[in-house]
Amino acid sequence: MFSFKAFLPLILITSTAVDAIFVSRRTGKTTLSFATKINELGTLNVAERDRARAQAMKQGGQLGQRSSIMDSNTGVNYVVQVGIGSPATNYTLLLDTGSGNTWVGAGKPYVPTKTSRNTGEAVSVSYGSGSFSGEEWIDTITLSPSLVIRQQSIGVTSQASGIAHDLDGILGLGPINLTMGTVNGMNTVPTVSDNLHSQGTISKEVLGVYFIPESSSTTKSGELMFGGYDHSTIVGPVFYVPLTKTQLASDYWGIEQSISYGDDIIQPSTAGIIDTGTTLILIATNAFQEYKNMTGGTPDSVTGLLKITSEQYDNLKPLVFIVGSEPFVLTPNAQIWPRSLNTAIGGSADAIYLIVSDIGSPSGSGLDFVNGYTFLERFYSVYDTTKQSIGLAHTKFTFSENN
Ligand SMILES: *[C@@H]1O[C@H](CO)[C@@H](O)[C@H](O)[C@H]1NC(C)=O
Ligand SMILES: *[C@@H]1O[C@H](CO)[C@@H](O)[C@H](O)[C@H]1NC(C)=O
Ligand SMILES: *[C@@H]1O[C@H](CO)[C@@H](O)[C@H](O)[C@H]1NC(C)=O
Repeated sequence: MFSFKAFLPLILITSTAVDAIFVSRRTGKTTLSFATKINELGTLNVAERDRARAQAMKQGGQLGQRSSIMDSNTGVNYVVQVGIGSPATNYTLLLDTGSGNTWVGAGKPYVPTKTSRNTGEAVSVSYGSGSFSGEEWIDTITLSPSLVIRQQSIGVTSQASGIAHDLDGILGLGPINLTMGTVNGMNTVPTVSDNLHSQGTISKEVLGVYFIPESSSTTKSGELMFGGYDHSTIVGPVFYVPLTKTQLASDYWGIEQSISYGDDIIQPSTAGIIDTGTTLILIATNAFQEYKNMTGGTPDSVTGLLKITSEQYDNLKPLVFIVGSEPFVLTPNAQIWPRSLNTAIGGSADAIYLIVSDIGSPSGSGLDFVNGYTFLERFYSVYDTTKQSIGLAHTKFTFSENN
């Protein structure tokens, strides 16, 4: 287990608050910082855990059941502190763009207050390797002093499995359709983002996500912005693409993308998703085999990642994700697991591991890639419900050599 602390922009350098808040009254945008932590090793290694999540996301059942895995035993999890009720109790929730329900009660028990109302309806979400069930309540959620959501429908679990013991639940940032069929008597459950918008707190239903890469320290953090994106953290424009219509990627924050390694196309344009709850970059088996051959990486049984020598590292070529017509380039440095975190995933401190892994099925499945946090720490991402599009932008960390 690692401690975590917030990213504090220069303007707030004197602040020590975990959820430092930045509000621009002119635009109505609000951001809150968030923190990450790395959980202790579980039974699955980081690649197996990501693969299991991706396979669970693809699996059938009802749309609402096809949510994300939440087994967070081995991985980098972004968590956010949210207050629920009045007076508020603080809960540590996992940020998840791959599911829509927000719920608490896995760690510390839910504390009803004067703002709490039990709807009496049953809620149940299956996440593949985990699940939660319980009762749906209505309550006030405080993301920050200026980001208060009234009458938010939340699950309160009486039974949860597969969630790390130090997490209290999930903040669901995925599309509303992922909540379909999860609560008795409700078709869908408006997400926190939907309610921020319908209550007029934000004028556009847009979420901006900024992940700051691991440096030499054991802390990591980032920033969420509801209502827009944070101009001060991006470099150049945001490039938007429409959400994909290809099932199953269309159930999530899905896009079309092709992938090249050096001059070779290893994955022609196909549908997949952007997901904050996945640690690695997962690509279709056929594309992964080519990447493995071209990099010379050998599978490491402990971490589940490809391992390369320093000579192979010197020969790595750019891995280019083409989204719309815009190339997003992962430099050699961006293709390796942060070396300071090698031991956190069971690896050896001086080894070099690649962060591209096999999704576990060939392309053509309808969900052929997952751009997870190792992608998102190089590119700012914008999830635009209003315009049904996703935006990506460069940051000052896109080409950084910090790994
Ligand atoms: C809840 O979290 C906020 C922000 O981290 C903090 O200021 C506040 O004191 C916490 N409240 C409790 C009851 O722990
Ligand atoms: C959500 O589901 C409804 C009902 O199946 C469908 O009509 C709608 O197009 C879906 N919305 C999106 C954004 O996929
Ligand atoms: C990878 O290399 C092996 C051994 O040379 C070869 O058999 C296989 O066809 C190659 N796969 C791809 C996808 O290039």
